[in-house]
Amino acid sequence: MVKIPVAIREQRDASYDIVVGHGLMNDLGTLVRAACPASRYAVITDRNVASIYGATVLARLRDASLSAELFEFPAGEPHKTRQTWADLSDRMLAGGFGRDAAVVALGGGVAGDLAGFVAAAYLRGVPYVQVPTSLLAMIDSSIGGKTGVDVPAGKNLIGAFHQPRLVVADLELLSTLPPAELVAGMAEAVKHGAIADADYFAFLERARGAVLARDRAAIERTVTRSIEIKAEVVAADERESGRRAILNFGHTIGHAIEATSGFGMLHGEAVAIGMHCEARLAEAIGVAAAGTATRVRAALAAYGLPLAPPPNVRADELLRIMQLDKKTRDGKVRFALLKNVGAMHGSATGGWTVAAPADAVRAAVTSAN
Ligand SMILES: NC(=O)c1ccc[n+]([C@@H]2O[C@H](COP(=O)([O-])OP(=O)(O)OC[C@H]3O[C@@H](n4cnc5c(N)ncnc54)[C@H](O)[C@@H]3O)[C@@H](O)[C@H]2O)c1
Ligand SMILES: [Zn+2]
Repeated sequence: MVKIPVAIREQRDASYDIVVGHGLMNDLGTLVRAACPASRYAVITDRNVASIYGATVLARLRDASLSAELFEFPAGEPHKTRQTWADLSDRMLAGGFGRDAAVVALGGGVAGDLAGFVAAAYLRGVPYVQVPTSLLAMIDSSIGGKTGVDVPAGKNLIGAFHQPRLVVADLELLSTLPPAELVAGMAEAVKHGAIADADYFAFLERARGAVLARDRAAIERTVTRSIEIKAEVVAADERESGRRAILNFGHTIGHAIEATSGFGMLHGEAVAIGMHCEARLAEAIGVAAAGTATRVRAALAAYGLPLAPPPNVRADELLRIMQLDKKTRDGKVRFALLKNVGAMHGSATGGWTVAAPADAVRAAVTSAN
């Protein structure tokens, strides 16, 4: 078992540990009781994950003499809504869960974001533990304390910062993850290497076969290193005022692509396209070293991730969506861009985002094919 501390500098008592390893589920009760003591636990999860792991999680909590009940919701991004949040909260109220209760968020990023937001607001806030079950949830969404739901105006627009007391990433749970979901999660792993660690990026280039075959050592190194990188970035900057922006590499264009595709594309797929386009953009405007985009492209392609927007998506439409995005200032879209593989352009004094001319963005998107 590897323990990665997340030291929240702005709020010392919000610090917590992420534990990573094979078979941690066996010790779930002990881990939860130590980090997040409560009189009762509401285990919130989607129906897919409930059918595979619901009974086991309840059993492991009850083994440790903890009182736990399962609260399910229908799986999928379309259910990450205020309505599901309200239903889950109401069911906990009807069940008599009090201020001395806690939430266990079991599942992918959808369950984590929803359950975290239930915990953030329930009786003005109860503690919670993240038990991520998808690769994306292990290396990305369970870390950093962002919780929330989607609304008609956009994704993740209503929510709260609420740090978990503990994150338990049991790598064995990835054995049941559908292949497309594993690949989509790898987009965020490639992002972590690209923005912060050239050696890790090189490992991901080499280890493609082992990772896709879910080799134990390869998965362990990937999840552990990605968690370390995300934890280090968010610990230094809990509320996204500065360097946390580097995690948005690939996401400015990626989010716009997601918005045009409805729910037709996985987040990681859209981010892969976004990273490829933004790496091209960084080179075109002289921010990234020559060859950076080619290397990013090859790594994403090796994992079978898409590289260009679907043919029906127009660059002008993507630009329009990006200009509406919250990261826009003065109509110019700002991007977190690579300097080279393993390092971001920017500095603590100069900021971590760059305003790019619309023509350059359009060219980077249309030439990505
Ligand atoms: N809070 C954050 O900082 C943050 C960061 C990134 C993404 N997110 C959010 O995360 C969400 C995406 O997360 P996701 O990709 O995990 O999607 P998801 O939660 O929908 O999970 C993907 C699918 O895999 C299934 N699944 C999960 N684990 C499984 C397992 N071990 N075995 C079998 N099936 C399993 C789920 O039931 C679901 O059908 C988005 O809503 C996104 O906005 C949040
Ligand atoms: Zn992402």
